[in-house]
Amino acid sequence: MEIKKVCVLGAGLMGNGIAQVCAQAGYEVSMRDIEQRFVDGGMNTIKKNLSRDAEKGKITKEQMDAILGRIKPTLDMKERQLAQMWWSKLLLKLWL
Ligand SMILES: NC(=O)c1ccc[n+]([C@@H]2O[C@H](COP(=O)([O-])OP(=O)(O)OC[C@H]3O[C@@H](n4cnc5c(N)ncnc54)[C@H](O)[C@@H]3O)[C@@H](O)[C@H]2O)c1
Repeated sequence: MEIKKVCVLGAGLMGNGIAQVCAQAGYEVSMRDIEQRFVDGGMNTIKKNLSRDAEKGKITKEQMDAILGRIKPTLDMKERQLAQMWWSKLLLKLWL
């Protein structure tokens, strides 16, 4: 089974880091949390991390924009259903 999309439940410390790594690996990512302020916080952390990498020359500005473009912050549980379920379950196990 080819993985095309990943859903990360939780945009906190672990969640935004996992979302960033998955997007950097080329996957489309839905990062879901329960309140807008949490998904905003997760996206801000990812942007800060990628900006730092760009400033150090580790990635280009174009790569940074492409990575950010693959991450969709959401409050919608339906996004989870669109993802490959076994992968979601694997991530859930990491949370437990
Ligand atoms: N931080 C670590 O080093 C670490 C290491 C190993 C395991 N863990 C585990 O990973 C999990 C997350 O840790 P963290 O440090 O990212 O915590 P965190 O508090 O930074 O983030 C957790 C996020 O999950 C969100 N959340 C809660 N219920 C949700 C739901 N139903 N759907 C979607 N999002 C929901 C919260 O709003 C919060 O933003 C915890 O269970 C923790 O024990 C953390």
